[in-house]
Amino acid sequence: MILSIESSCDDSSIAITEIETKKLLFHKKISQELNHSKYGGVVPELAARLHATALPKILEESKIFFKDLKAIAVTNEPGLSVTLIEGVLMAKALGISLNLPLIAVNHLKGHIYSLFIEKESLFPLSALLISGGHTQIIEANSFDNMKTVAKTLDDSFGESFDKVSKMLNLGYPGGPVIEKLAKEGDENRFKFTIPLSNSPLLAFSYSGIKNQVRLQIEKIDKNNPQDIKDLCASFQKAATAHLIQKCKKYFKQNRIKDFAIVGGASQNLYVREKFLNLCNEFKINLHLAPLKYCSDNAAMIGRYAIDAFKEEKFTPLKTLKANPQSTF
Ligand code: KG4
Ligand code: ZN
Repeated sequence: MILSIESSCDDSSIAITEIETKKLLFHKKISQELNHSKYGGVVPELAARLHATALPKILEESKIFFKDLKAIAVTNEPGLSVTLIEGVLMAKALGISLNLPLIAVNHLKGHIYSLFIEKESLFPLSALLISGGHTQIIEANSFDNMKTVAKTLDDSFGESFDKVSKMLNLGYPGGPVIEKLAKEGDENRFKFTIPLSNSPLLAFSYSGIKNQVRLQIEKIDKNNPQDIKDLCASFQKAATAHLIQKCKKYFKQNRIKDFAIVGGASQNLYVREKFLNLCNEFKINLHLAPLKYCSDNAAMIGRYAIDAFKEEKFTPLKTLKANPQSTF
């Protein structure tokens, strides 16, 4: 079995995965969303302190599996430096005390592996990662051969939902609340320009939409619930149309058989429906992770670690460190 740890942002999570069967034997996550909600975003120092109490609490519950462990996996990049360190130090301590090898896991690769929890992996695969920190198209050929072919020039998709939510005093995270309000709104009421629609660039940009929404918020009646719902629906429509436009461009330029959407924002059912239509149009298989594994979790980190373990890709104790900015 492999014990995996995730602490790259505001979720403390530990999983135990059986190597041969890929079965998830234990999985627990303590989310800090409520603790950060009043600040409208994650406060790194607070997040680190919360991990320092939550991770040992979960670890205690997983102790019955210690005797069967063969490796310790941990997210070491990218993420918030002070929160990554909490997980990395716990992994090192476990590695030394249980005399086990360590496996460092890139969080973005982990999100791709959310598709393969308790399943075989499928490569080659192109994936759109949409989360709070990232918006990028990744070409994945194997567990250690992945490359980014398009990314955001500024804000990420999930971040734009968080920022719009903050402007409307709807709390953090913004994605779920905006999606819910948008369901009862008129998506055609406000016209927001889709970013980079005349640009040949295969890239994303969300800072412009955010500013258009800010200007519109100044004009609406913030006490009128219907105005807020219409604004959420119109914003979600434009933000999603941008993803669709750029992925359509990518599909036209490349022969894609299997495509996936991963990351916390891939829970959005409006986004899922639009991509289902797009993939049908191009006769592409769309792969989606179960909703419970879209946001940050240790199960996806453990699933990645199984493939790394089989190739004996271990990380020496001395070189394992948190790389907050690292990507690929
Ligand atoms: O993957 P994740 O849990 O953490 C990161 O690695 O960033 O993603 C969290 C992000 C937040 O920005 C959150 O607002 C967004 O995903 N999100 C959504 C939805 N659910 C979560 N965005 C849009 N629609 C949703 N339903
Ligand atoms: Zn994530």
